[in-house]
Amino acid sequence: MSDETKSIHEFDFKLICEYFSGMERQGPGSSEVTSKALSFIDNLTNESKIADIGCGTGGQTMVLAQHTSGHITGIDLFADFIDIFNVNCRKLNLQDRVEGVVGSMDHLSFQNEELDLIWSEGAIYNIGFERGINEWRKFLKTGGFIAVSEASWFTEKRPDEIDRFWKDAYPEIDIISHKVKQMQQAGYIPMATFVLPENCWMEHFYALQVPAQEKFLKKYAGNKTAEELVKNQRHEAELYYKYKEFYGYVFYIGKKI
Ligand SMILES: C[S@@+](CC[C@H](N)C(=O)[O-])C[C@H]1O[C@@H](n2cnc3c(N)ncnc32)[C@H](O)[C@@H]1O
Repeated sequence: MSDETKSIHEFDFKLICEYFSGMERQGPGSSEVTSKALSFIDNLTNESKIADIGCGTGGQTMVLAQHTSGHITGIDLFADFIDIFNVNCRKLNLQDRVEGVVGSMDHLSFQNEELDLIWSEGAIYNIGFERGINEWRKFLKTGGFIAVSEASWFTEKRPDEIDRFWKDAYPEIDIISHKVKQMQQAGYIPMATFVLPENCWMEHFYALQVPAQEKFLKKYAGNKTAEELVKNQRHEAELYYKYKEFYGYVFYIGKKI
């Protein structure tokens, strides 16, 4: 495998965490998109219990918290992200009803039928979309919602370069209709799907990385892992600019039946 196509998963996670922890979001998204996805969910009250799985430092969780009144638990594998998450909660005075905990999405400790809403932006790929929506379903009450964003193809066919890149990075990437079918098969009513606009990638994700990359390369001058991480991120951004008609993130919102 060439350096260019090396998966991000092969890099040192500690370094990746540091690289991303300075950014408001660790994946493509925006407050507008989080609010839009939330607009399809109509079962929430003060008593609601919400989980944000793979929450990172909580960019989207804080938006969720400002538009809902129940209790939110953010879960992420990386303690450094959760530390920042909990500092952000205190800054926004949300600590009484929003908390970040370290945990893995494949070993969640919720009770069956405890949750009203499961949220996950740009993170379910870590367990795989199909496995995630099936395994997490038991934690939702009947009538509860799941809202996840997931890399998806926009076309049946695409250029080889981008097809190979994604098949290596995330073989479960698929066209939207297949993902919707998987939701139905898992026992959800597909309530809505929508494509995240380009600004979620360009402005809110890749553009913010440019100054962070300069700083990071200065700090880790001569460190091969750091240089490779930045090179990989730049390559990913170039691919996005080149092939954005063929893929992107899609929000999938389902209701448990
Ligand atoms: C692309 S980031 C998205 C973060 C955040 N939701 C956002 O949109 O900014 C993916 C997140 O999944 C987390 N993650 C990876 N594997 C995980 C696991 N097994 N359990 C929980 N979180 C995990 C990563 O630490 C990272 O914060």
